[in-house]
Amino acid sequence: MKKYSRIIAVVAAMIVAAGCGRESRSPRLVEDFNFGWRFSLGDDAAWAEPGFNDAAWRELHLPHDWSVEGEFSADNPSTPGGGALPGGIGWYRKHFPTPDADRIAVEFDGVFMNSTVYVNGHEVGTRPYGYSSFSYDISPYVAPAGGDNVIAVRCDNAEQPNSRWYAGCGIYRNVRLVGTAKAHFAYSGLYVTTPEVGDAKAVVRVAAELEGAGPGETVRYRILDARGRKVAAGAGPDLEIARPHRWDIDDPYQYTLVAELVSDGRVIDRYRQKFGIRTIAWDADKGFFLNGRNVKLLGACLHHDMGALGTAVHRRALERELTILQEMGLNAIRTSHNPPAPELLDLCDEMGILVMDEAFDMWRQPKTRYDYSRFFDAWHEADLSDFIRRDRNHPSVILWSIGNEIPEQGGYADRPDDNPAIALTRELVATVKALDPTRGVTAGNNNVGPDNNLIRSGALDVLGFNYHTGNYDDFRTWYPGQPMVASEATSAINSRGVYFQPSDTVRIQPRVWWEAVENASHQLTAYDACRVPWGDLHADAWTAVRDRDYMAGLFIWTGFDYLGEPTPYGWPSRSSYFGVVDLAGFPKDAYWMYQSEWTDETVLHLFPHWNWKPGETIDVWAYYSNADEVELFLNGRSLGRSRKEGGKLRAEWLRVPYEPGAIEAVSYRDGREVARDRRETTGPAEGLRLTADRQTIAADGYDLSYVTVDAVDAEGRAVPVADGMLRFSVAGAGELAGVDNGNAADTLSLKGREKALFSGKALAIVRSLRDKPGTATLTVEGYGTTETLTIHTR
Ligand code: GAL
Repeated sequence: MKKYSRIIAVVAAMIVAAGCGRESRSPRLVEDFNFGWRFSLGDDAAWAEPGFNDAAWRELHLPHDWSVEGEFSADNPSTPGGGALPGGIGWYRKHFPTPDADRIAVEFDGVFMNSTVYVNGHEVGTRPYGYSSFSYDISPYVAPAGGDNVIAVRCDNAEQPNSRWYAGCGIYRNVRLVGTAKAHFAYSGLYVTTPEVGDAKAVVRVAAELEGAGPGETVRYRILDARGRKVAAGAGPDLEIARPHRWDIDDPYQYTLVAELVSDGRVIDRYRQKFGIRTIAWDADKGFFLNGRNVKLLGACLHHDMGALGTAVHRRALERELTILQEMGLNAIRTSHNPPAPELLDLCDEMGILVMDEAFDMWRQPKTRYDYSRFFDAWHEADLSDFIRRDRNHPSVILWSIGNEIPEQGGYADRPDDNPAIALTRELVATVKALDPTRGVTAGNNNVGPDNNLIRSGALDVLGFNYHTGNYDDFRTWYPGQPMVASEATSAINSRGVYFQPSDTVRIQPRVWWEAVENASHQLTAYDACRVPWGDLHADAWTAVRDRDYMAGLFIWTGFDYLGEPTPYGWPSRSSYFGVVDLAGFPKDAYWMYQSEWTDETVLHLFPHWNWKPGETIDVWAYYSNADEVELFLNGRSLGRSRKEGGKLRAEWLRVPYEPGAIEAVSYRDGREVARDRRETTGPAEGLRLTADRQTIAADGYDLSYVTVDAVDAEGRAVPVADGMLRFSVAGAGELAGVDNGNAADTLSLKGREKALFSGKALAIVRSLRDKPGTATLTVEGYGTTETLTIHTR
């Protein structure tokens, strides 16, 4: 019973945290089920049995990704395209006491992949798609209240390649144990829409799906505003809010629906569901409208890994990623190409980021040998429905995508009257619409011609186009009256801090998509002068959308670099070059191009660094805004003024003969100075500087401090070309969760203790320990010195 009181304590703490201290204790028990697991690689049917002795297994807490803990290798079957990290089969086991509830469920937000869950030796369910969230009723298999149980989870990611990017392995998302009465709100069972939104009032329509309820049970609702004050109440389905406060990107205001299931005057289940009140609309000429206002979607595609953490979900990692991108001016993301972690959507709701929420990267026709196409026929209905049901209350979600570059776009010319791809498109859209008629459906099309089956189905509300900037105007003729969005754009490829001269020759790499590129450095220039043949430079993709009102916006490929898909290189490259921000979270120079175009901030970003060899000739660029022109000075001498012109979104000074010292840019508006930026030739690296993004974090086993390491010269200036090896360790109330430097061709483990600087920078991620407040000390050794940094955990 001792453990049961811990559950009560957890629930009580949650209620207090949720700010609803006045309510009676929730009859719904929700326990964080991430702690106290044991893990082993390998496979043995006996591991499902409760009696199996797992004492020798490794103890860990979830979310967990075993793949990123392994070594990068050319021999891993995932291939560099899948991140060059190991796959295999792994098992998790955990003992737990039965909570005192009539019905007990375990909710998994995602297990990669082919998971099978056993409770006390009984198989309770299996789920191939690693991105689906699911819940199992385990009541029939558990011991009486207080008794001991064993849950075992088998994850099978042995057959590879099965993904075009790094997918991770294991229980990589959160798990909860939920105890309720027999009659209860179903998993994902509440649906809130706002059929009428006006200044005076909004109608909020609520629908609750119940399980195990009889005629004697009734549901009642109330709506709380963001401060917890009741603004509406009733039995539903319609409730009214006077003078509704709208959810918007610059004011992401949310209400909370509290649904109560009442039996004999007693509340037997209570569920809280956040929602927002906003209107969305699409127009073939003007694009996207939020709350009646025309908003250009300034978006990025994101894969689901979090760099050195692999795919193990950390809310703080996602928050950092979104914050960095939002500061660039981004207002939208696309969850390429799969259902995201629920926390990502919670954050988008809270931060005011719009979401194109995507289901699949393929349907029946495969893209890699062992991918989801094998399971599509048997599972797509369940995976798609569960996805929509899970995500349809998020105000941030404005568009559903049923697929990315689906191979079925083409073909079937011989079956004009019975085209299976058209039929399937209609079926998928109908599934979505039956569960959520309030949002449009799109798909990312790379086959843009009039014979595209997805488009010809007539079922898509918004046409999503990947690349093909040169055809945008044709689409208006080919698909008149249809709203359009650049569901994917750019695929420019760059390495942070690397500058190939000259900068005004555009490098297309590979020349054709099937050709591997050889280059000893495995790096690409950071000038916006390198792209894949199907893509565009950053500046070109953006201006093509900026200058066309009918393009609702764009989702650049990608916001952050991700593990896998190291186009144009093969091994030892193992992560992408597509990001505007590198894998470690350090922006590449194009970041400031977007910031100068997408925000009102005054931007002046001068590059490259100024540590070259005498005799070299260097091209100098500056991204700027809120100014007419920029003047460059080399050691105090003016090299003239330059401005954005001829489609260029930068000022530039080409072939500057290098001499040590400093370059300085000064921007002017109406002749008056607006901003300055400077790059100095540094001395050699002699020391290290550690900078934490947050020096106090929560002692919950989840929270993270991201520490940037710079090599500095004798005067304390960051040395942008430093590449020395560093050693990391953490002592006290924290652990080292990962190390990185953003180098896509670095084959040292992201979970190791050693990492070299890349273009002068490295990153250490420190994670707190659960229930161990105190101080964590990060020690970094390198360049003959040892630096420490203290992080407080509370
Ligand atoms: C697109 C695809 C993305 C990614 C990208 C790289 O065609 O949708 O997943 O592969 O190319 O340029």
